[in-house]
Amino acid sequence: MRDTHEESLQAWEGNADYWDARMGDHSNTFHRLLVRPPTEKLLGIQPGDFVLDIACGNGNFTQRLVELGARVVAFDYSGKMIENARRRRAGVLDKTEFVVCDATDSDWYLSSCVYKGEALLGQPVLHNYYHRSLQEILGTAFAVGFVLDAFVETADNDPEFPVIVTMRLKKLA
Ligand SMILES: C[S@@+](CC[C@H](N)C(=O)[O-])C[C@H]1O[C@@H](n2cnc3c(N)ncnc32)[C@H](O)[C@@H]1O
Repeated sequence: MRDTHEESLQAWEGNADYWDARMGDHSNTFHRLLVRPPTEKLLGIQPGDFVLDIACGNGNFTQRLVELGARVVAFDYSGKMIENARRRRAGVLDKTEFVVCDATDSDWYLSSCVYKGEALLGQPVLHNYYHRSLQEILGTAFAVGFVLDAFVETADNDPEFPVIVTMRLKKLA
């Protein structure tokens, strides 16, 4: 199959300002009447939920998610879309992080990035989280003489799904 990825990206870059003008602050009727109701029903947003908005465009639904009580990391591969989203959603940037990112990029985990979040539900000011791959974190420690000598994965509600990783690093004498 022909690789149309670059062509697709260029089309959305070319349509970003038009999309922003048409969707505006509150999206269009089609979206409000047909897309949002079932999406919101399935999501069932609770205050404090943390949502990933993939391919967010100008962030109209991102804003809606914030209005429903969520904190959101929203991304789109079009830099122009994200530029427009940051401008239009200036009022909710304390609850949202807009990032340029390609959903088809399978290496995204390896890229460092920063996003806002909360450690305690309802804390007054969101703080920065600095995503780093394990190889970057451990590589930095290994490079200055630390070795990993213990590793524990701890589950919470789902006994087969660890939510905490605890590691011990020791510096070689
Ligand atoms: C139809 S618009 C929908 C925008 C937004 N979700 C909304 O409801 O208004 C599709 C969006 O998907 C983005 N997109 C398409 N392929 C993508 C990819 N591989 N990674 C990230 N964004 C992508 C486009 O740039 C565009 O903003």
